[in-house]
Amino acid sequence: MPAIAIIGAQWGDEGKGKATDLLGSSVDYVVKFNGGNNAGHTVVIDTPDGKQEKYALHLLPSGILTPGCTPVIGNGVVVDLDVLMEELDGLEARGVDTSKLVVSASAHVIADYNRTLDKVTERFLGSRRLGTTGRGIGPTYADKMNRIGIRIQDLFDEKILRQKVEGALELKGQVLTKIYNRRAPLVDETVAELLKHADRLRPMVRDTGLLLNQALDRGETVLLEAGQATLLDVDHGTYPFVTSSSATAGGACTGSGIPPMRMDQVIGIVKAYTTRVGEGPFPTELFDDSGEHLRKVGAEFGTTTGRPRRCGWYDAVIARYAARVNGVTDFVLTKLDVLTGLEQVPVCVAYDVGGVRHDEMPVNQTDFHHAVPIYEYLPGWWEDISGARTFADLPQNAQDYVRAVEKMSGARISAVGVGPSRDATVVVHPLI
Ligand code: GDP
Ligand code: IMO
Ligand code: MG
Repeated sequence: MPAIAIIGAQWGDEGKGKATDLLGSSVDYVVKFNGGNNAGHTVVIDTPDGKQEKYALHLLPSGILTPGCTPVIGNGVVVDLDVLMEELDGLEARGVDTSKLVVSASAHVIADYNRTLDKVTERFLGSRRLGTTGRGIGPTYADKMNRIGIRIQDLFDEKILRQKVEGALELKGQVLTKIYNRRAPLVDETVAELLKHADRLRPMVRDTGLLLNQALDRGETVLLEAGQATLLDVDHGTYPFVTSSSATAGGACTGSGIPPMRMDQVIGIVKAYTTRVGEGPFPTELFDDSGEHLRKVGAEFGTTTGRPRRCGWYDAVIARYAARVNGVTDFVLTKLDVLTGLEQVPVCVAYDVGGVRHDEMPVNQTDFHHAVPIYEYLPGWWEDISGARTFADLPQNAQDYVRAVEKMSGARISAVGVGPSRDATVVVHPLI
C-alpha cells in the first residue's frame, strides 16, 4: 500500500495543510519530513454545528487533526522543543487528541544559540538578508551538516548531551561573541534548556524509519507532508533565497527513512497564482493594484510571521520545473476562487531573458533574476465558484482556465480548491 508525498510546487503557502487534512481520513500516518516551525499551515474544519474551526500549525503535521491518524515528526525535521510543547498544549486545550504523536530519535533540536544566530546573521547581512523566519532553521541545519548538531536522542543521555553542547559552543561561543558581539551561551544553561521537556518527550520518541516501513509492510498508507516548497528547496530552489532543508520529493525519502521505490504518488500543491515571502527573485511578481487585489482577496499574509506575501500571476515555467524535480503525479490547484471577477487572467508560459525565450527555468540564477514573463491571457469569470463540488459546477471559463493551466504544467490536475474549508474542493480524479 502506498507512500504518498505532498509537496509545495511554488514558494510555499500553496495550501499543503488543507490538502493533507483533506486526505487525512484515508491515511494511517502523516509524516512531516523537513523544516521546522518556519512552516505555517492553516487548516479550516467545518464543525457539525455549522461553524468553522481554524487551526494554525507550525511544527506538527496537519494529520494531527484527523482522529485515528498517527502524526509523525521525521528525522529530517528540526524541532524547537518549546514550540512543540506549546503547540501540543494549544491543540489539547481545543479538544484535539495529540497522544499518538511520534517523534524521530534522529531529528535535530533547535538550540537557543541557533535562534540567536539566525536573527543576528540576518541583521549582519543588511540589504543582502534572506528574510528568514528567524526561527533558527538555517543554523540548525548547518550544524547538522557540520556534524555538531544536537539530536532528540541526545536528550536522554545527559553525559553525551553535555559533551555535544560543549563541542558546539566551542565554535558557536566564538562566533557569537567575537563576530556578533553577543553574550557567550553557557554550557550549563544550554543543557538545562534542552532538558526542560525531556521527560514529557521521552514516550513519543521512536525509530520512525522502522515504524513507517513496518506500517507499509502491513499495507497501511503513509502520507509525507512537506514544509516549504520546491523553489525554497536548498538544492532545487532559488539559492541562496531558500530554506535550508530538502522540501522536494527526494527529501521525503531522506527525511523519513522511506526508500524511493516505496513512494507511489507525488501530489504537487500549486496555487492558481503565485506568492512568495521573504527576499529573492519572483518573475511574475505584481507591484500594482492587481497584486494588492490578490493579496486582499487571497488573504495573503504569513501564518508564521504575519508578513504580507508578495503576489503574482501563475507561472507555468516553475510548475513544470516542480513537476519534473518531484515527479509530480497529480497537482492540486488551490485558491481558484481568488481569481473570480477578473476580466482576464494572465498566465506566464515562458520567460524572456535578454531577448532569448526560455521555456524552462534558466540554469543561471542571474538569468532568473532578469527573467521577464511572457504571458498568455485567459478569459475570466464572474460567477461565485465557492460552492462548486464537481468540475461541471465550474463556469466554462474557469474550466478552460484549469484545463489550459494543466496543459502547461506537466502533470494532471486532480483537484481544485474553491475555498479554505476541507470540503471546498472539486475532485477531478480521486487522489488516493
Ligand atoms: P501551506 O503552508 O502550504 O499549508 O499553506 P498556508 O496554510 O500557509 O496558506 C494557504 C492559505 O490558503 C490558508 O489560509 C488556507 O486556509 C487557504 N486556502 C487553502 N486552499 C484554499 C482555497 O482553495 N481557496 C481559498 N480561498 N483559500 C484556501
Ligand atoms: P510553508 O510550509 C513560505 C521562507 C522565508 C525565507 C526563506 C528562508 O508554510 O509553505 P527560513 O526561516 O526557512 O530559513 O527562511 O524561506 N520560508 C517560507 N515561505 N512558506 C513557508 O513554509 C516558508 N518557510 C520558510 O520567508 O524567505
Ligand atoms: Mg504556509
